[in-house]
Amino acid sequence: MTDSVTLTRPDDWHLHLRDGPAMAAVLPHTARRFARAIVMPNLRPPIVTTELALAYRRRILAALPLELSFEPLMTLYLTESASAEEIRRAKESKLIQAVKWYPAGATTHSEAGVSDIHRCQGVLEAMEEHGMPLLVHGEVTDPEVDVFDREQVFLDRVLGPLLIRYPRLPVVLEHITTREGVEFVRSAPGQVAGTLTAHHLLLNRNALFAGGLRPHLYCLPVLKRELHRQALLEAAISGSPRFFLGTDSAPHPRSGKESACGCAGIFTAHAALELYAEAFAEAGALQRLEAFASFHGADFYGLPRNRERITLVREPQPVPAAFPMGDETLVPFRAGQSTAWSLA
Ligand code: NCD
Ligand code: ZN
Repeated sequence: MTDSVTLTRPDDWHLHLRDGPAMAAVLPHTARRFARAIVMPNLRPPIVTTELALAYRRRILAALPLELSFEPLMTLYLTESASAEEIRRAKESKLIQAVKWYPAGATTHSEAGVSDIHRCQGVLEAMEEHGMPLLVHGEVTDPEVDVFDREQVFLDRVLGPLLIRYPRLPVVLEHITTREGVEFVRSAPGQVAGTLTAHHLLLNRNALFAGGLRPHLYCLPVLKRELHRQALLEAAISGSPRFFLGTDSAPHPRSGKESACGCAGIFTAHAALELYAEAFAEAGALQRLEAFASFHGADFYGLPRNRERITLVREPQPVPAAFPMGDETLVPFRAGQSTAWSLA
């Protein structure tokens, strides 16, 4: 058994940092592990302009502890009133890497998202022209559709046809949760990739109900059955450059999660790389972790690969029951338990 692994410092291609004191509390966890992260724009109000994104970036850098190095890669939140001109400004800034498409109502802070993607034609054409990636929350919001089928139905009804209309648009299907999602990304024509979270690689939907209702394991897209987890794991360890690391670490205060109507999102930033190592090691594919975590995403986004290295050791690391988050409390993934791997 391998007891340590050294890899090029990785990047997180899908991260929620929030803002203000919550951001200051969660940011060091990510910056200790990852050199860069694609920062999601679903704040309230959402990050819809280059100006707002650059101001948010400055706030993140100001909150970064001096001893840590980290580069936030910014995104814009797509709305039906977005303009092609804004895409040009974003591209010119060189600090905005992508545009995030939340179907309105699909997930946390998606109210301002898109009801009908056809209303975004001008923006999508501009993105195609500038090679600006579209990051997709791939779920339909139709309440008639079973919640466990929403990803697959989205691919059939919405994303498949969109790729035909915009064949040169770089697209990332974020946090893939199904076998169909993996198959879609694997076989899509053009520049299509997908991110995979650590929690979807490690858990199936039984975890949501193990011994009782587990609100801290509720996220969107929701965990799926074991056959889907197996397909995600196979994609992650396949070596295909179309799949890369995106934690979707999404902090919420304890009060928001432990509630009669608890919100979606799992916080994994405190142990993100360790959790991926656990999934890869269990699959006997630790040697594939580096490309997945450190190469494929950078290559897709046309950014240089990192140069520093980071070492993980197979030593259990206890996870605290909670972390402070501003005036609130944050319950992390594996709270009160441990991870199998630690940072050296
Ligand atoms: C995310 C959040 O809390 O912002 N929640 C989640 O369950 N993943 C939003 C998202 O990425 O869907
Ligand atoms: Zn997310």
